[in-house]
Amino acid sequence: MRKKIIAGNWKMNTSLQEGKELVNSIAEMIKSKPLKTMPGNPEVILFPPFVHITEILKITKKEKGVTVGAQNCHQSDKGAYTGEVSAMMIKSVGATHVLVGHSERRQYFKEDDNTLAAKVSQALDNKLTPVFCCGESLEERQSEKHFEVVKQQISKSLFWLDVNDFANIIIAYEPVWAIGTGETASPGQAQEMHSFIRNCISEKYGSEAASNTTILYGGSCNAKNAKDLFKNEDVDGGLIGGASLKAGDFFQIINSY
Ligand code: PGA
Repeated sequence: MRKKIIAGNWKMNTSLQEGKELVNSIAEMIKSKPLKTMPGNPEVILFPPFVHITEILKITKKEKGVTVGAQNCHQSDKGAYTGEVSAMMIKSVGATHVLVGHSERRQYFKEDDNTLAAKVSQALDNKLTPVFCCGESLEERQSEKHFEVVKQQISKSLFWLDVNDFANIIIAYEPVWAIGTGETASPGQAQEMHSFIRNCISEKYGSEAASNTTILYGGSCNAKNAKDLFKNEDVDGGLIGGASLKAGDFFQIINSY
């Protein structure tokens, strides 16, 4: 079902203490202004580091509309993969979502379309909702290959799913040149790509599936530019990195519909 979602990707930041303080502050703010009273009735998903998930869940479980996910999962169900974490493990501690295909995973850990398809499969098999990230590099945008690149990413990693499984996917469009750079896609660029993604979904699964898919924007989205991004028809919310580490900024982004 299509929803308004603000997701916070903490990446490799915060000690456990800092993470708990951050979530306690966000929870306090949400208490003073509950999500259901805000325009768009947004939902919040937090993606802390793996080792914090259990403790963060203790704080968020009292907050309606706030859930917790993992930043990654392994593509196999279990086995001799020292240092890795499976979708089953993530599910077993109470998380509900998992990021798949973040550009930092693609770039630094060489995750390709096939690996990501296997991760999506693991997530769905374990009843986790994948938040699938896609997006082009600066070079690809400059050479006007951005539509082709994004279509390839979603086709190869997602479009093998049947329509019922696809209904459980959230997509995050994150142009690589905008991640952590302070350079945001313009509202027009975001809308153009989101509408393109929705068209690709429509071609593959039909218009109902397309209009039911939640598509988030990510890449230097902050308290100042969120409103202009979210007012676009096809932008359902944001995947927020840097600005999700400051409770006040993150809360303001949640309030930006
Ligand atoms: P940023 O990161 O908001 O710091 O650009 C977004 C992301 O990587 O998900």
